[in-house]
Amino acid sequence: MHPGEVRVAPSILSADFGELAAALAAVAPATDWVHVDVMDGHFVPNLTLGPPVVASLRRHSSAFFDCHLMMTDPGEYLEAFREAGADLATVHVEIGATAALITEMHRLGLRAGLALNPDTPLELALPFIDDLDLLLLMTVFPGFAGQSFISSVVPKIQAAERVIALRGARCCIEVDGGIAEETAALTAAAGARVFVAGSAVFNRDDPAAATRAIAAAASAAVRRQ
Ligand code: DX5
Ligand code: ZN
Repeated sequence: MHPGEVRVAPSILSADFGELAAALAAVAPATDWVHVDVMDGHFVPNLTLGPPVVASLRRHSSAFFDCHLMMTDPGEYLEAFREAGADLATVHVEIGATAALITEMHRLGLRAGLALNPDTPLELALPFIDDLDLLLLMTVFPGFAGQSFISSVVPKIQAAERVIALRGARCCIEVDGGIAEETAALTAAAGARVFVAGSAVFNRDDPAAATRAIAAAASAAVRRQ
C-alpha cells in the first residue's frame, strides 16, 4: 500500500457461513482485501474456521487474505494457513513468542501482523515494529462481531502512528471492531489505514456499497490531515 492509501477488509465472520463464496463475490467489486477471523476456543471463547476453509475460499477469490489468528498456539498452524492461501497472518502479542512467530511467518512467505487487545499497552509491540507489515489495534475485545467501538484505543493509534513514522517503518495500522463510516474516519485521522468491518458490511443490503462508503469516509479523513 502507498502512503495515504486505505483498504477496507470485510470480515467474513459476519457473513452467512453457508454462503461464504457468495459473500466474497459480493465485496469483490469494492475491495481487494478480505479479513478472515480464526478463533480457537481458547484465546477467545468462540470457534470459527481453520486452514481447510481458507483453502476452499481461495478457490473462489483472488483477494488478499488477511488472517486474524485469535489463537493460543498459532505457530502450529502457520504453514497450513500459508499452504491454504493466506497472504498475511496476524498473531496476538498477548500469547508471547512474538519474535519467533514473526520469523516463521516471513520464512513461510507470509506478511506478518501483530495484534494488540484494547487493554494491551503499545509498548509490548515496539520491539517488533520494524519487522511487521501490519499492526492490528483491536477496537473491541476479540471473540465476537457486532460489538461497540472502544474509543479509548484512539490515543494508542496516534502513538503507534508517531512511532512508525519516526522509525520510517513500513508497517501499516489496522483497526478491527465496531468499524463503520464514522469510526473509520475517526481512526483514519489517528493513523489507521486498514479498516476491518464485519457487521457494517455484511449486515447491510448492499455489502459492496457499504464497503465503498467506509473506504470513502476513511479516505476523506486522511485527505483532511
Ligand atoms: C472480532 C473480530 C472482528 C469482527 C469485527 O473478534 O476480530 O474481525 O469480525 O466485527 P464488527 O465489524 O461487527 O465489529
Ligand atoms: Zn478480526
